[in-house]
Amino acid sequence: MGLLGRIKPIERGAGNGEHRLKPSLSWPHLIALGVGAIVGTGIYTLTGVGADRAGPAVILAFAIAGAVCACAALAYAELATAIPAAGSAYTYSYSVLGEVAAWIVGWSLILEYSLACSGVAVGWSGYLVGLIQSAGVHPPQWLLAGPDAGGLINLPAVLVSMGIAAMLMAGTRESATVNILLVIIKLVALAIFVVVVLPAFDSANLHPFMPYGFGSHVIDGEKRGVMAAAAIVFFAFYGFDAVATSAEEARNPGRDLKIGIIGSMAVSTGIYILVAVAAVGAVSYQILGGSPEPLALALRELGHPVTSWLVAGAALVALPSVILVMMYGQSRIFFVMARDGLLPRRLARVSKRSGTPVFVTAITGLFVSLIAAFFNVGEIAELANAGTLLAFIAVGACMMILRRRAPDLERIFRCPAPYIVGTAAILGCIYLLISLPEKTLVRFVLWNAIGLAVYFAYGRARSQVARDMVDAAG
Ligand code: ALA
Repeated sequence: MGLLGRIKPIERGAGNGEHRLKPSLSWPHLIALGVGAIVGTGIYTLTGVGADRAGPAVILAFAIAGAVCACAALAYAELATAIPAAGSAYTYSYSVLGEVAAWIVGWSLILEYSLACSGVAVGWSGYLVGLIQSAGVHPPQWLLAGPDAGGLINLPAVLVSMGIAAMLMAGTRESATVNILLVIIKLVALAIFVVVVLPAFDSANLHPFMPYGFGSHVIDGEKRGVMAAAAIVFFAFYGFDAVATSAEEARNPGRDLKIGIIGSMAVSTGIYILVAVAAVGAVSYQILGGSPEPLALALRELGHPVTSWLVAGAALVALPSVILVMMYGQSRIFFVMARDGLLPRRLARVSKRSGTPVFVTAITGLFVSLIAAFFNVGEIAELANAGTLLAFIAVGACMMILRRRAPDLERIFRCPAPYIVGTAAILGCIYLLISLPEKTLVRFVLWNAIGLAVYFAYGRARSQVARDMVDAAG
């Protein structure tokens, strides 16, 4: 049987018995999961990097990345309600494009979810270290950062990653409830930022609007221009797809997923544009550019030190919610890949007591901690974006192909103008992908080469779908 013929039947998405997840989430949990994953390091930290790469046109970069994500979100929402099984882009690709494509997408999703967790953990560690040091306490530097930042191991990043993994192992429901609280803190802090900063808006700060032009090109050793910034701040927008990975645990997948994905995307995009306009409108992009804490810096520049502590404190308390949701998504991706036989089946075992895949969550926590311990936040984020963009391209393609192949399949949510939206999602993601630094693209290709080697050495011979097809034929 040819590899391209290995397609997972759509109704075969969910597992059963000890491999079945508990349906315990409803739409408020899903919106909180989505916003919890979307609003994080991207707005709190990468706004500064974006301003450095694009100038005031970082606003435009946010709008472009948001528009591309919105198209992908619509495609996701349709697929999530047509194929309501855990695993998101990996599962959709398996049912539409076949096993090899699904494996590549699943392998890319590891970059999206795990590296986003690691990146946010490193960002969180930066805030913590800043706070501790401003209180006059100076722990040994080798414990506070990875090798390229003048230390040996980033211990705070490791601890926050492990703590979140432990929470997830204790049970989905409890973790989701804590997450709602953190989401509220995060949103209130950003609202306060906008209310305090916006009155200082001065249109002179927006000139020149695009100092480095539009397309991504190398200036002073960095890729700059609006598209270069968009390829980085793209990090700030994704995460809504984590909602789709929990399809199997939604009580009423049709309604809940639709509201969860579209709602969380809309709320986050609105907030982002407001925060970006307030930040670069009130403070020169040259001051914000490259700051590790641009929102706090903007507040200090405008003479609001207390508010700046507040916003920084909220970031510290709330950023772990991003790790929580992304790690949740990652453990579910590993879980489904293992259930399909492409990764060791032991990973797919669900604990009888908590109803969660405890073993795979522990492995995910370890992987995230290892990356966070030794790598730099910018490089982690860029590679995470590459993985996410590939997954989004697959989702756009799957949505359009499935419309042709299975027009009568029940779709509780139907993407408007599906071929225009799907094509826009694919072209937009390709444009963002090629706007990333070359170094990142090389790493991404290497990562997928390793992935394919793992597939041919392990999963190909153990695929459950292949076995089912042989059984059915015999
Ligand atoms: N979108 C998430 C963030 O900004 C990953 O942190």
